[in-house]
Amino acid sequence: MSSKTVPVVEAMNVKKTYMLGKVPVEALRGVNLRVETGDFVSILGPSGSGKSTLLNLIGALDKPTSGTLRIDGIDIAKLNDNQLAELRLRIGFVFQFFNLIPRLTARDNVELPMSIADMNKTERKKRATELLETVGLKERTNHKPAELSGGQQQRVAIARALANNPKFLLLDEPTGNVDSKTASEVLALIQNLNKEQNVSIIMVTHDEKLAHQAKRIIKVFDGEIHSDVVN
Ligand SMILES: Nc1ncnc2c1ncn2[C@@H]1O[C@H](COP(=O)(O)OP(=O)(O)OP(=O)(O)O)[C@@H](O)[C@H]1O
Ligand SMILES: [Mg+2]
Repeated sequence: MSSKTVPVVEAMNVKKTYMLGKVPVEALRGVNLRVETGDFVSILGPSGSGKSTLLNLIGALDKPTSGTLRIDGIDIAKLNDNQLAELRLRIGFVFQFFNLIPRLTARDNVELPMSIADMNKTERKKRATELLETVGLKERTNHKPAELSGGQQQRVAIARALANNPKFLLLDEPTGNVDSKTASEVLALIQNLNKEQNVSIIMVTHDEKLAHQAKRIIKVFDGEIHSDVVN
């Protein structure tokens, strides 16, 4: 890998301490991490180990207490709320519970982030159609979430996450709410996006089997990275 390219994520001695009343809770105790373009990383760890905390930081949803976190080369500590929101438009989020808007069709759900980013209507429509085709839902563009299976809803969520050409996809237990067959389909789609389109993937899970499908596995324990191995 070229050392000249800017890593999509670079964490240097990142710490996060929550205050629970007057009691400090050290959720991250000095994390060092570098994720390059085209990586497929899974972050594995037990409950309470700090996975969501790390994911929130990588997604620019929160700032570290100390240390440096760069997303696409940008030090997030230096950004104000508006700049953080702008940065988040360039990150593709996929959550465990899909988080689609129930009133909107699959197409309109995928178009939404593009309209927030001020893309014009014609372009938006074209891109939504392409993305839904990519995730295998060409025949379901006018369905609302309730008219889709769990796996199909998650594929809409992935298409939506890709809408604004994100620097990377951030997935939090993406197969946590679908059956095992659907889970393998969703995983195959994620692997394909990584392989064919070089989309960088960071996936948090506590499912060991799922984690081992990634190219690189990072194990978090008690707020620290315990191991970081190429699969
Ligand atoms: N807002 C908060 N205020 C105080 N403590 C918090 C807060 N959020 C998380 N914590 C604590 O920080 C630690 C890490 O939590 P985190 O949510 O990152 O764990 P996790 O690895 O995502 O766990 P899970 O697998 O259960 O989702 C835990 O001890 C948790 O209790
Ligand atoms: Mg969590």
